[in-house]
Amino acid sequence: MPNLVTPLCRTLGLTAPILQAPVSDSPDLAIAVSEAGGLGIIPITWTRTDVLGRTLAAMQARTAAPFAANIVIPLMEEMQQANLDLALEAGVPVISTFYGDPAPLIGRIHDAGALSMHTVGSAEEARRVVDQGVDIVVAQGVEAGGHVWGRVATMVLVPSVVDAVPGVPVVAAGGIADGRGLCAALALGAQAAWIGTRLLLARESDAHPAYRERIAAARATDTVLSEAFDDGWPDAPHRCLLNDTLEAWQEAGEPPPGSRPDEGEVLGCDGSGAEIRRYSIEIPTVDTTGAVTSMALYAGQSAGLTSGEATAADIVNGMVSEAASVLARIAR
Ligand SMILES: Cc1cc2nc3c(=O)[nH]c(=O)nc-3n(C[C@H](O)[C@H](O)[C@H](O)COP(=O)(O)O)c2cc1C
Repeated sequence: MPNLVTPLCRTLGLTAPILQAPVSDSPDLAIAVSEAGGLGIIPITWTRTDVLGRTLAAMQARTAAPFAANIVIPLMEEMQQANLDLALEAGVPVISTFYGDPAPLIGRIHDAGALSMHTVGSAEEARRVVDQGVDIVVAQGVEAGGHVWGRVATMVLVPSVVDAVPGVPVVAAGGIADGRGLCAALALGAQAAWIGTRLLLARESDAHPAYRERIAAARATDTVLSEAFDDGWPDAPHRCLLNDTLEAWQEAGEPPPGSRPDEGEVLGCDGSGAEIRRYSIEIPTVDTTGAVTSMALYAGQSAGLTSGEATAADIVNGMVSEAASVLARIAR
């Protein structure tokens, strides 16, 4: 295996400069990425605290490799505060925060001995959060899948952020789905790539098969950045695959909440039997029933580079070896 180990990899104990984006609640995916030498991550925003406690214990029993936890700042209420405490008590070494101001959380993360990793959308924001104490900056380009914080493309954002926070490790997010993208991210000065859509298709992810099929078949032009799926997280732009819900909303002239086509219609249920309504932020997973392809199908423009299923290990190893071949080809 070619060596693309960066200083951030050494800090985190990784053998591959690849960080999983928090695209799936599946502990199997996080474990598989970490076991492959990258950094797996587990979202802790939507999991009940008792369930999270059991999940973290089971993950730590299954792997000695490090993994991170991700929390969405504007959705932090009592349960999410408890989940953060739990992750810190469990010794999760890296806490990733998203969408807003991480300042109130940084001291708490550091006091527990963990590193603070925050996602930014501009160079100015990177400078500000680093001044506040953030240890690792994720620079998320506008082509990213799921909720999108900034409006600058990855190709421009990453070098701007790298220049803005000298000496601080930067991770490139958005649009990276193969070894060419990984190589480009490293060339731009990032010390790792943050992979969402590509790993959503990993065999270990819990994405619904119909959702996987849509991503695998998608072109780069098939995603839409909108605020349409806002039930559960309002006023937060996100990138999804174009589906019948978005088409009907666009045809109706993109009306605001309260007057959208079929608003409130029950589309199906999640694994716990809870109803999922049209415009809900909830993602279809293997145990979701109903009209799954009408739900929020988060995906980045990188869907156009993503086809076929593979294990997380194959994806991580494949990206690293392709990046190394690209470097060798350029050197020739
Ligand atoms: C299905 C899905 C769910 C996501 N959920 C989160 C999340 O809970 N927290 C977060 O920080 N980012 C989330 N994101 C955004 C990713 O962290 C990341 O920025 C994005 O996937 C990178 O672009 P890519 O999909 O082209 O790799 C999500 C993305 C997707 C596709």
